[in-house]
Amino acid sequence: MNLILLGPPGAGKGTQSERLMDAYDLVQLSTGEMLRQETKLKSKLGDEAKVLMDAGKLVPDDLIIAMISGRIDDTKGAGVILDGFPRTTAQAEVLDQMLVDKGMQLDRVIQIEIPEPEVIARLTGRFSCAKCGTGYHEVFNKPKVAEICDKCGSKEFVRRSDDNVETARSRLRAYHEQTAPILPYYEAAGRLSTVDGMGGVDQVFARIKEIVEGA
Ligand code: AP5
Repeated sequence: MNLILLGPPGAGKGTQSERLMDAYDLVQLSTGEMLRQETKLKSKLGDEAKVLMDAGKLVPDDLIIAMISGRIDDTKGAGVILDGFPRTTAQAEVLDQMLVDKGMQLDRVIQIEIPEPEVIARLTGRFSCAKCGTGYHEVFNKPKVAEICDKCGSKEFVRRSDDNVETARSRLRAYHEQTAPILPYYEAAGRLSTVDGMGGVDQVFARIKEIVEGA
């Protein structure tokens, strides 16, 4: 099974990807996460991407496409969750051809919807485990034991440099202007399902599960 998760920043794509991976044995391919890794490595791509990411702008299509194609090959036929890709019409068109070339089929495109005030609240309260990357929120999704990661027990947490109010607004603008226009493309192909991203993480996952199991 191959899925695309779309939605505004903070909609819960990463959080729900973690659940989907565990439930359906899928591999998550997050272009945002790949770019953050490149930034940590201080590669040419990482340096170029960091400036754009901190401004809340999208990274150019050609760089993203070159990066994701190899990562899909690395999964060696496992089902994938594309988290945050495609994000422009050009990326969606290239992905279609890429899937044909790789002999893969796209089962569902799931759009998670949340309203703008929730985007800001979720991004400004987000943090994650520095060791294993598990995501949390200071109000909505705290570790079970304060300051200890549920998954790996680490006590070190990090915040993203683009999780501030100003950058969050630019990211949301980029979503509306460049990403939302690809939704009709998938709708016309009969592949799009939209879920309400409001409510608890378990509640949203139950909605996604219903879609996935009917896919
Ligand atoms: P990326 O990392 O993909 O960021 P994003 O799309 O803005 O999405 P986020 O990771 O911020 O949010 P999410 O939906 O995963 O939410 P999460 O589950 O963490 O991209 C970053 C940047 O990289 C882009 O701005 C761009 O510059 C570049 N980029 C990436 N891909 C690109 C591409 N394809 N083309 C060009 N440029 C690209 O949840 C958020 C918070 O809310 C967490 O704290 C979580 O605990 C909490 N939460 C989750 N679910 C719930 C719930 N149901 N109720 C309450 N709280 C919840």
